[in-house]
Amino acid sequence: MLDWKKATKPIIALAPMADMTDQPFCRICKEIGVPYIWREMVSAEAIIRGNQKTRAMTGISAFERPVIQQLFGNDPERLAEAARIIEEMFQPDGIDINMGCPVRKITENFDGSSLMRDPERAAAIVKAVKNAVKAPVSVKTRLGWSKDDEILTFAKIIEDAGADLLTVHGRTKEQGYAGVANWTRIGQVKDSLSIPVILNGDVTDGTSAKHALELTGADGVMLGRGALGNPWVFNEIGSVIGVPRTSYFVPSLEDRVTIVLRHARYQIERYGEGGLVKLRKHFPFYFKKELHDKHPQVDFIALRSALVRVSSYQELEEALKAVLAQ
Ligand SMILES: Cc1cc2nc3c(=O)[nH]c(=O)nc-3n(C[C@H](O)[C@H](O)[C@H](O)COP(=O)(O)O)c2cc1C
Repeated sequence: MLDWKKATKPIIALAPMADMTDQPFCRICKEIGVPYIWREMVSAEAIIRGNQKTRAMTGISAFERPVIQQLFGNDPERLAEAARIIEEMFQPDGIDINMGCPVRKITENFDGSSLMRDPERAAAIVKAVKNAVKAPVSVKTRLGWSKDDEILTFAKIIEDAGADLLTVHGRTKEQGYAGVANWTRIGQVKDSLSIPVILNGDVTDGTSAKHALELTGADGVMLGRGALGNPWVFNEIGSVIGVPRTSYFVPSLEDRVTIVLRHARYQIERYGEGGLVKLRKHFPFYFKKELHDKHPQVDFIALRSALVRVSSYQELEEALKAVLAQ
């Protein structure tokens, strides 16, 4: 059983990202080198109702572990019930409660970051979920609703309620994704708690990860956007911060194509041939504009517009092989 206090530090993790960190993408990140996966959030209510699509989102293959499944909701007993169902079905290595999502359809339902405005309810959720499952229970939150020091009292409440780990995204709900993540504030949270604290927000490579860890003393870093189209980033971080036996190389265009094709095969395995449509949103990340400087011979604009139209594996393979031939 995962024990966050004993886990090797720093913890390096893939952030939960709705519609992005599904099974195929998590599998790719794991094969390349991410130690811990936070699976995209699922609705506690949908799990309890027996929604097949939602339940299937929580499936875990052995090679992906450890996988932490995130839940959203606002009712302590309902979240506890959903966590219990998931634990019985798939035994995730940890359960995480979303207390940071700023999206309106989540917050107007009093889920996600709304829970920061109701610390008593947030604490009751942690206690109820802890009582319901054997797996460790963590919380992912932000610096506050509107002020970036709200986290200092909120974090303590979450720890006192029994959470085993806290991840903090260094922005307030009102900031959304604007501005720069305030890592210093996360360092203060780390200093005030005894449970492990993971830093999240604006870590994009080995250098930023090293700086964030040194600045704050955090127990780990969690990457979201920086991992999209760049599952190699976890090895880069490992090699920069000196994780033993981590090897990193800058992926060539061939490596990129190999991984995209593998990602496509996993999509098809998981969702059927229609899975390629769901893969389209990953293409702009795999083939970013910045690659142009390294590969001036490739017309990435034409490639990206061709990729968003592919609907079969063969079409995808042809489009990508054509790029390698350029
Ligand atoms: C497309 C997308 C979906 C996200 N979905 C979730 C989610 O399901 N649960 C969650 O806690 N955070 C979610 N987030 C927030 C990320 O986990 C992370 O906190 C945020 O992107 C900041 O980290 P970064 O700078 O490394 O991207 C999402 C972010 C993005 C961009």
